[in-house]
Amino acid sequence: MRFRKPLETLIKESQETGEHSLKRSLGSINLVALGIGAIIGAGLFSLTGIAAADNAGAAVTLSFVIAAVGCAFAGLCYAEFASMIPVAGSAYTYSYATMGELVAWIIGWDLVLEYALGAATVSVSWSSYLSKFLGNFGISLPYELTHAPMDSMTLADGSVVSGFINLPAIFIVFALSMLLIKGTKESAFLNGLLVALKVTVVLVFIAIGWHFINPANHTPFIPENTGVWGEYGWSGVFRGAAVVFFAYIGFDAVSTAAQESKNPRVGMPIGILGSLVISTILYLLFSYVMTGMANYTEFKGSAAPVAVAIAKTPYAWLQQFIILAILAGYTSVILVMLLGQSRIFYSMSKDGLLPSIFSKIHPKFKTPYKNNLLFAIFTSLLAGFVNISDLGHMVSIGTLFAFVLVAIGVMIMRKTQPDAPRAFKTPLVPLVPILGIVVCLAMMLSLPIVTWIRLFIWMAIGFTIYFTYGKNHSLIRNAKNFSEK
Ligand code: ALA
Repeated sequence: MRFRKPLETLIKESQETGEHSLKRSLGSINLVALGIGAIIGAGLFSLTGIAAADNAGAAVTLSFVIAAVGCAFAGLCYAEFASMIPVAGSAYTYSYATMGELVAWIIGWDLVLEYALGAATVSVSWSSYLSKFLGNFGISLPYELTHAPMDSMTLADGSVVSGFINLPAIFIVFALSMLLIKGTKESAFLNGLLVALKVTVVLVFIAIGWHFINPANHTPFIPENTGVWGEYGWSGVFRGAAVVFFAYIGFDAVSTAAQESKNPRVGMPIGILGSLVISTILYLLFSYVMTGMANYTEFKGSAAPVAVAIAKTPYAWLQQFIILAILAGYTSVILVMLLGQSRIFYSMSKDGLLPSIFSKIHPKFKTPYKNNLLFAIFTSLLAGFVNISDLGHMVSIGTLFAFVLVAIGVMIMRKTQPDAPRAFKTPLVPLVPILGIVVCLAMMLSLPIVTWIRLFIWMAIGFTIYFTYGKNHSLIRNAKNFSEK
């Protein structure tokens, strides 16, 4: 028997007002900013160099085009769902309406990888850039207090220093969680400022860097394949696409704020597709300029490829601005990821699949404050004590998996609910969802096997929780208004 949540119930829920609902405070511009807030971050500022050096050479710009195409297919599917079912749960809710409770649980659980793990990963990176930023002003933070226990470093005198706790990473997660508790509007305001700062610096980099492009660095545009799949040539361009895919993650987070959008039917498609289009244009220009300023081989092993490019100009001062933009960029990514995470668990809790603590709304701030607090603890534990630098792949696989399910969901919904009002319609169904599935699956397959194993382990934990708790507490299972199949 398959338990699905009826579309009518979902639409009714989305219109709910009162003390147990979220506040509708976000306009279309806020939503586009929310998307850009979650999108531009570690992917652009560090993975561009890595993918150029290891996989695609100057053709990393083509890798960005391929990843953008996959995201555009997924974004169009998200836009249809988000305008049709504007509730906080995003892909989780869409699956509940189309493929049933078990798939919905799988996707909700999977999204923790995208949002909580994404926030933790980026906060660790944030911490290292903060150290760099302060270091340039002569302030040095102790290694032990800025790294996880598994990290270590050999000092000049040969002694080894190990990390103990990453306090800045914990700080940023907690500070942003407090802001989210205070209110979505306040968070959106800060996000707007951060987005303005990072976009400005990206534009300044493009404008200045353009004059320093050396055409020799773009020739050959696609370096010859070494004989190994993924090392340059066209296979390198494809592998590069899977690497830089991380840079696009976040546009789907817009859909988690559907219940806080003033007019979700219009705002959702604008927020999702608008932020995706703007980021894509910036990414293509940025990667083209960066690989033109320095040869792709010079980015090898560099954690700060942007610095390599800037070193080719007489504008060393740009360096500090870029670090500031990176800090701002990472802050907004963490903010929106934490927001998205809390809204997904809010929806799962409202459906009974998780304890009610996750959907308790603060009487004054109208935010799911206990949920924010619990995730502040969970995410900061990861950020503070775990070396999660290689878990970026987990974030990518989790997100791609969600995209595949959303694309399948659009096709199912067109069959089961052909006449339901859709403020935005994905064009060329089923072609666009099918292409979305193919491109996302291809990117998933190019991720390392260890990432797949970790995904299965994470899912096994999820299944255990579902079968011991979720299934027994599901409101739909215990109520009469479900649809069975
Ligand atoms: N797209 C986000 C980033 O690149 C996750 O940091």
